[in-house]
This record gives sequence, structure tokens and C-alpha cells, in this order.
Amino acid sequence: MKKWIHGEQHEFVDWFDTDGNVINTSDGGIIYAEGKYHWYGQALRALPYNDDAKWNGGAGTTGVVMYESEDLLNWRYEGVILACSDDPQSELYAPMRFERPKIIYNEKTKQYVLWCHYVRYPGGHGFEAGQGEAGVAVCDTVNGTYRWLGHLRPIDDKGVVRDCTLYQDEDGSAYFIYDRDISSYHGEMNRCLHIVKLSEDYLSCTSEYKRIDSAFRREAPAIVYRDGYYYMITSGLTGWEYNRAVYFRTRDLMGEWENMGDPCIDDNEQTTFCTQTTAIFRVVGRDDCYIHMAERHNTQNFLHCSYVWIPIHFGADHTISLTYQKEWKF
Ligand code: GAL
Repeated sequence: MKKWIHGEQHEFVDWFDTDGNVINTSDGGIIYAEGKYHWYGQALRALPYNDDAKWNGGAGTTGVVMYESEDLLNWRYEGVILACSDDPQSELYAPMRFERPKIIYNEKTKQYVLWCHYVRYPGGHGFEAGQGEAGVAVCDTVNGTYRWLGHLRPIDDKGVVRDCTLYQDEDGSAYFIYDRDISSYHGEMNRCLHIVKLSEDYLSCTSEYKRIDSAFRREAPAIVYRDGYYYMITSGLTGWEYNRAVYFRTRDLMGEWENMGDPCIDDNEQTTFCTQTTAIFRVVGRDDCYIHMAERHNTQNFLHCSYVWIPIHFGADHTISLTYQKEWKF
């Protein structure tokens, strides 16, 4: 078994686009459309993390950006697909956050639908209206200008939205999975992942939802399905700092999710190889090739976060694992 070299996991390594610029697309995902992979995420700023939200590099002033590639190696910048605004009246007035944006395609409406964890100006996480919401935007083309539809709190207004993801099932139904934070009602940290079924057009939530009890105080979820099981990899609650991943599995998205422990192999420091999960995508044209995208957040300069992608290994007994590899080929 290949072991990682101690120390390597702490390095920040830039990835560059075809123009030679540092790729800056945090906590998003990849969608395959029109014969290409499109990698999108929130563009962060070259600022250190501090308590003043206005100057925190995690509160963006650009918006959601996109890159395209045919081979997953060479990425061409496609531009801003959902922009922050400089109009103080706008919900998108910057600095603000489009955190953990995810895009899926709706076959029926022929629209690309984006959901994210929206945080209004000045981009500080809180409990008030606008400080932790599900944001929705839509577009007719994968890389066009997404139209902002607004924000909402799934289930009820009590539950503040933190980290989130989307999952599109094989039957075309789609789900918004989010860390529902009701701590302000409890006097202690009360956060749990919830899964909510979306409407047929994917633009709103239905009343069908489930509290994933086993995923208490977990965030950064990403889901993959294979051979009768759904797997969800998550991170613990340590802000931008990495921590030990835990994954869950179920045969029924709205059923019970079983805690399966840490998927990482030889992760000596139990830090998910110094990353937090971002998303999982499927490599087109290859059987069972799913890539776990994770991010090593650089809290001193968010422009230089590192992207760490590892193929998921599916075990014989319906388990999954991740083994760190400095370089790998298909
Ligand atoms: C993390 C979360 C990130 C971001 C960060 C800000 O817990 O995974 O998406 O919200 O906190 O502190």
C-alpha cells in the first residue's frame, strides 16, 4: 500500500488555468455538459481569515465562476456565471457568500439549477434573516449568466442553512442536503444534516424531508450512489480547518443513514489528508470512476486554497475508501 510522505499533505499547491492564472473556484463542483466538464465554485479573495467579516477572504466580491475542460487537466476560464453586485439595494451586494454552490440539470425544464448557502452582505455567518439561507439561481445554458431567484429556508425559518449540497437521483428526483442550524434556540450547538426533496423543476423545496440523525454536527456533505447504496462523505465542524471525515450509507435516501466511520486509509493525522470534502463527480466513459474533490482551505490567503482530488475506492462489502495519492493517472 502506498503511504503519503509526512508533511506533503500540509503543502498548498496552486492549480493554473490555460491562461496561467491561479484557479480560484472554491467549494463548488463539476457538471458534465455539452461534451465538457465544467468546474465551478465561489471565487474567494486573497485575504486572511479574521473576525471582521468584511475583510474575510471567504466573503466574496466576484461570485460563482466556471472553468471548462475536456480532459480534467487543462482548464479554460469561462468567467463569472453568478455575479456579486455593487448595488447596496441588491441581495447580492458584496462582500457576500455563495458558499458551496452546486449545479444540476433539469431534463424536463431544460434548465441548469444552482443552489448554494447564501449569506448576505457583509458575508458574516449569523442567525438573522439573510445570514444563512438556501440561494437558488437558474440558467438555460451551463455556462451562461445565472438568474438569481432569491433565497429561502427549507423546512422552516427556524433552521438556519449552513453547508449544503445537491443530489440528483437516477429517477430524476433531486434533493437539497444541508446542515440545519437551530443552535440559537438551544443554547448549545444544535446542527444536523437534513435532506429535503426538491420540486419537479428543482426550484423549490417540497414538504418531504428527513433529519439525518446519525449526521449530527456534520457538514460539507457530498453524495455518491453505487450498486444499491448511497454514500455521503462529511466533515466535522471546525470552520475552515480540516478534520476527520466520516461517511454514512443508506439504501433509501429518506431512510436511516448508517455511520460508517472514516473513509480515509493511512491518514495518520486523521484530517482527511488536511482537507474538507467539496463534491463527488463521475468521470464520463469510465465504469465506477468517481472522484472525491476536497479542498485545503488556505486561511491566510484564500486565493491559494488547494484542490485535492482522489478516486473513490468501492469495497466489496458496500464500503468506500480514500487513499491519498500525490499524483495519479486513470
Ligand atoms: C466551514 C464550512 C465552510 C465555510 C466555513 C466558514 O465550516 O465548511 O463552507 O462556511 O466554515 O467559516
